[in-house]
Amino acid sequence: MQPKESLSLDEIDLSDLDGFWTLPLEEREGAFATLRRERPIAFFAEPQLGFAPSGRGYYALTRYRDVVEASRHPEIYCSGRGSTSIPDLPPEFLEYYGGMINADDPRHARLRRIVSRAFTPKRLQALEGTVAAAARAIVDGVVEQGECDFVTDVASELPLRIICDMMGIPPSQYGFVLERTNIILGPGDPDLVAEREDIYGALLTAGAELGELVRELGRAREENPTDDVVSALVNAEIDGERLTFDELASFFILLVVAGNETTRNALSWSLVALDEHPEQRRVWAADFECVAPTAVEEIVRWATPVIQMRRTVTRDTTLSGQRLEEGDKVLLFYNSANRDEGVFEDPYLFDVRRPDNRHVGFGGFGPHYCLGAHLARREITVLWRELFRRVPGIHATAEPARLRSNFINGIKHLPCALTPA
Ligand code: HEM
Repeated sequence: MQPKESLSLDEIDLSDLDGFWTLPLEEREGAFATLRRERPIAFFAEPQLGFAPSGRGYYALTRYRDVVEASRHPEIYCSGRGSTSIPDLPPEFLEYYGGMINADDPRHARLRRIVSRAFTPKRLQALEGTVAAAARAIVDGVVEQGECDFVTDVASELPLRIICDMMGIPPSQYGFVLERTNIILGPGDPDLVAEREDIYGALLTAGAELGELVRELGRAREENPTDDVVSALVNAEIDGERLTFDELASFFILLVVAGNETTRNALSWSLVALDEHPEQRRVWAADFECVAPTAVEEIVRWATPVIQMRRTVTRDTTLSGQRLEEGDKVLLFYNSANRDEGVFEDPYLFDVRRPDNRHVGFGGFGPHYCLGAHLARREITVLWRELFRRVPGIHATAEPARLRSNFINGIKHLPCALTPA
C-alpha cells in the first residue's frame, strides 16, 4: 500500500470522526505523511463526543521523535491531569477508568509495581501452555466449517480467554466481559453503541458491571486465596502494598480493555497484511520460528492498534520549535510515528524480517510502556504457529469492516476461508 495525499494540509481534520477516520487507508496514511512533512505539530479543535465536554483543542504529534520525547518525559507531558483520552474524564468515570494509565508518579509507580506481579516471567511462562491450548481450541472450533469471521471467531477469542483465565474469571463469563469491553472502546461506532443510545450511560454501566464482577472475585480470593493473579493482588502484602478493591476493579478494566482490543486488532490486521504480501507469508511460513520474533514486531508496527494517547503539558515548554503552554493537550500519534520515513526505511512495506524495528506500537518507551507487550507477542506468535500448521492457506474473503474510531485501529469483521494443510 502506498499513501495517497489527496487532502491539502488545511483540509486535514483529525477531529472529524465521520469524515477523516472513515477515509480509505491510503488517504489516511497520505494525510499523516503530509502532516509529518509540513506541519508535524498541528493544532486541532476537539471532536464533540457526547459523553464529556470538549476542551479547547490539542496538538497532534505526528513525528517519531516528538512522540518518543513526550513519552519519555512524563514530568512535562503527564497522564494524570484529566486523562489520556482527548476529553478530560468526568469525575464519576474515574472510579472505573482511573487506572494507572491515567496516573503519574508516585501513584503510577506504586500501582505498576503491584500489578507487575501479574506479569512476572514465571507467570508468563506458566501461561505458555494456556495460550497454546486456547489457540488450538479456537482453531479446532472453526476448522471444519471451512470459513468464519476471523475477528469474532478467532482474533477476539484468544486475548479474552487468556486475560480472563489469568484473572480467574470463569469461561461462563467470557461473553459478558467481551460485550462490555466492546462498548468501552467503541463508543464512536454506531454498530457497538446504537446511535441514539446514551453513550455516557453505556460507558458508566459497562465499567460498573465489569468492576462488580472483579470485586466479587477479589472478595472471594481474599477469603480463599488460590494461585491466580487476583489472589496475588489482593492478598500478597509484598513490600506492604496491595490493591484496594477499587484499584483492583480499575486495573481489571484496564487489562481487559487494553489487552483485548489491541491484540485482537494486531491479529486481524496481520491476516490482511499477509494476504496483501504473499511473498512475506512465504518467508515466514518457510522458517516460522526463526522469523517469528521480527514478524511479530512488524505486525504491531504495521497494525498500530492504538492510534494515539494523550498527554497534558505540565509547564510552558518548547517541542521541536513549537511553543506549548501548561495545560495544553498533546496527542501522540503512534500510527504516524510508525510510518515516519526518517526512522523506518520503506515504511509502507510490510517486512517480516525488518531489522532494528524500534516501533512505538506499544508506546514510546516511557514509564507507561505497555505492560502486556510480552504477553501480546506470545499470543500473536502462538496463534500464527497454530494457523500455519493447520490452515496455512487461510485468507480473507472480503475487505475488513473497519471500526470508526480515532483511538483504536480496529476491524469489526473479516470473513475468511480456512484452507487446511
Ligand atoms: C498488540 C497488542 C497491544 C498493543 C498494541 C498495546 C499497546 C499499548 C500502548 C500504546 C500503551 C500505552 C503506552 C504509553 O502510554 O507509553 C499500552 C499500555 C498498557 N497496556 Fe498494552 N498493548 C497491547 C497488549 C496488551 C496486553 C495483552 C495487555 C495485558 C493483558 C496490555 C496491558 C497494558 C497496560 C496495563 C497498559 C498501561 C501501562 C501503564 O500505564 O503503565 N496491553 N499498551
